[in-house]
Amino acid sequence: MAAYQARQMVIEPGGSLGPPPVSPTFDQEQAWVFFAGEQRRYCDSRLGLMTHALHYGTACFEGIRAYWNEGREQLYLFRALEHFQRLHQSASILTMKVDYSPEELVEITIQLLRRNQFRSDTYVRPLVYKSSEEIGVRLHSLADGFFIYAQPYGEYLDRSKGLRCMVSSWRRIDDNAAPARAKISGTYINSALAKSEAAQNGLDEAIVLGQDGHVCEGSAENLFLIRKGTLITPAVSDNILEGITRATLMQFWSEDLGLPVVERPIDRTELYVADEVILCGTGAQISAVVEIDHRPIGGGKPGPFAKQLDEMYGRLVRGEIEKYREWCAPVY
Ligand SMILES: Cc1ncc(COP(=O)(O)O)c(C=O)c1O
Repeated sequence: MAAYQARQMVIEPGGSLGPPPVSPTFDQEQAWVFFAGEQRRYCDSRLGLMTHALHYGTACFEGIRAYWNEGREQLYLFRALEHFQRLHQSASILTMKVDYSPEELVEITIQLLRRNQFRSDTYVRPLVYKSSEEIGVRLHSLADGFFIYAQPYGEYLDRSKGLRCMVSSWRRIDDNAAPARAKISGTYINSALAKSEAAQNGLDEAIVLGQDGHVCEGSAENLFLIRKGTLITPAVSDNILEGITRATLMQFWSEDLGLPVVERPIDRTELYVADEVILCGTGAQISAVVEIDHRPIGGGKPGPFAKQLDEMYGRLVRGEIEKYREWCAPVY
């Protein structure tokens, strides 16, 4: 045991690894989940050791947030329909079947959140997975399973001072090797390698380049840079996840701020000279980047656009902006 411990690497956490975001009062074992077609307790929902997805990463998932509005005593599930539509797309790329339509999945999730009586910001994790308990790497002739898990959840990253990032030494997976547009469990090893490299270097997040050297995205976020009032982001054909927060920000930018959005390849050094760089995603929400590869971005503090977008996004997801209310499904 002592010899084993001696071999453990000492990992200095990056700035993002603060206190756990899970509420201390949350009892995971007693939480309600949707499993095997019904609502059950987490502790009564077990998977076998040989579950195919655990060994081969043969699963796809979503990350959805619900936001608590204290004034209205209401929990809003944000853009769940779009998340479940993307889950269906991911499943179809893997030739997997989801037994419920996106609309039915929204309803199932609302019922689940209600049953759990969540009264705080919440994270929802649906997973479609190969459930057969057998050896042999493939996608065909295996059973598909499905569950939804949810828990209270706060900040994914410490965004208070902006993020310090590095360009990762790991390259982004390529569409013809493992599609980035699908949220496939196995491909998240690519994100995990990049994220841990950044954290072990004392940083908050990694920015990952594609095989051609252009910027793709963060380990679990889409990336924008702002130059002279134009929002610039890689195209969906640049091996990125087609992010729902990305689509939300692009709509904001053009419709509400009346400013131009451009989707095009981004060079690494454009990051260094951008007025602002933003990472966005369901987990990271709107995160200003203040440093990349030891170079300050936009003066080394969150810029005015990042602040404005963050403020608007915060109101939008809590159902405070009438125009976007339809994206926020009330749970109670
Ligand atoms: C690799 C990757 N890119 C981008 C995103 C952002 O996507 P979304 O805004 O839909 O959460 C995520 C979110 O999980 C992600 O994992």
